Formats: sequence, C-alpha cells, structure tokens
Amino acid sequence: MEIQKKKVLYSKEEIRQRVCEMAEKISRDYPEGDLVLIGVLKGAFIFMADLVRKLKVPCVIDFIRAASYGSSSVTSGEVKILKDIETDIRGRDVLIVEDIIDTGITLKSLVRKLKEREPRSLKVCALIDKRLRRRVVFEADYVGFSLDDGFLVGYGLDFNEMSRFHPEVYVIEE
Ligand code: IMP
Ligand code: MG
Repeated sequence: MEIQKKKVLYSKEEIRQRVCEMAEKISRDYPEGDLVLIGVLKGAFIFMADLVRKLKVPCVIDFIRAASYGSSSVTSGEVKILKDIETDIRGRDVLIVEDIIDTGITLKSLVRKLKEREPRSLKVCALIDKRLRRRVVFEADYVGFSLDDGFLVGYGLDFNEMSRFHPEVYVIEE
C-alpha cells in the first residue's frame, strides 16, 4: 500500500546536506565525544543512521519507543515508554534523536523522564519541527527543517506505517 497524493518537500540532496551540517555542529559541541544517542522509534531510524555516519566524535547508540496515553490524558502531556533504553545514562552526555516535533508532547515527556536518570547533559535533535502545532512549550536544540504545518511521510516518517522507506520527505496533499 502506498500513498498516491503526495509531493516532494525535502529532496535526498537537501536532506543529505542538512544532516551533514547538523552532524558538524553536534561534533563541534561535543569535542570529547562519548555521546549517547537515543533514537525515538520508529520514525527516527533512518535519520539516526545517516547522522551517526557523519559524526566526527565517538558515540554509542540506543533506542526508545514511546506512545501517547488515551485521549483523556493527552492533555497531561505524559507518554508511556513502550521500549526503554538499555544504557545507563547517569553522568553521560545524551542526545535524543527524533524525526519530527508536532505537539511537543512526546519529547517534553521523554526529556522529563530521562532527566530523572541524571545524565550529565540532555539535548534534543529533531530532523523536522512543525512549529504551529505545539500544545506544550518545547524547543529542540538542533533542528534540520522547520515548517508551519502539514502531514509528512518518507525518510522514516509514516502515515499508518506506510511510506517510511522513501529516501526523500513528502507532504501529503489534501
Ligand atoms: P508530538 O508528541 O505531537 O510532538 O508527536 C511527535 C510524533 O508524532 C513524532 O515522533 C511522529 O512519530 C508523529 N508525527 C507527527 N507529525 C507527523 C507527520 O507529519 N508525519 C509522520 N509522523 C508524524
Ligand atoms: Mg516518532
């Protein structure tokens, strides 16, 4: 199954270029390395894979998977951890790697939960920021692309599990 009505928003080349720039900046910001990258499943898997191959500092990787609680508690801004990391992050420099920020609820909640484990530092890197849809105050430390709104697929992003495999990012047309 594949979505028919969509158009390219960020090309392969634009993404490659932006991921390189982000990796350069992250490498400069953590000159001593020893960084723990935590990819948020499933959407971040492709971005994370490209990002680590451009980093110039050593890192270890881990993954986390989160899900919103039922609609009644969404306003509480809490998410449930479906798959936790296996790394002890106490005292370490941690960077969460996410595909897209929408309401901000997922990342705000993940940051709060991971901070309880007392990492030395905790920052967030997101490929895409949909700025107009925030329901909680949240700013990522590194952002690849910003847009106002729109539903995006490709490069890891899905719509009902479809279209993750594309090497470019598409916007679904109404
Ligand atoms: P938030 O908690 O609303 O910020 O949700 C972020 C999560 O929703 C992301 O990790 C994505 O999995 C999903 N998401 C939000 N917007 C999109 C989109 O445009 N395409 C695909 N997934 C999206
Ligand atoms: Mg996601």
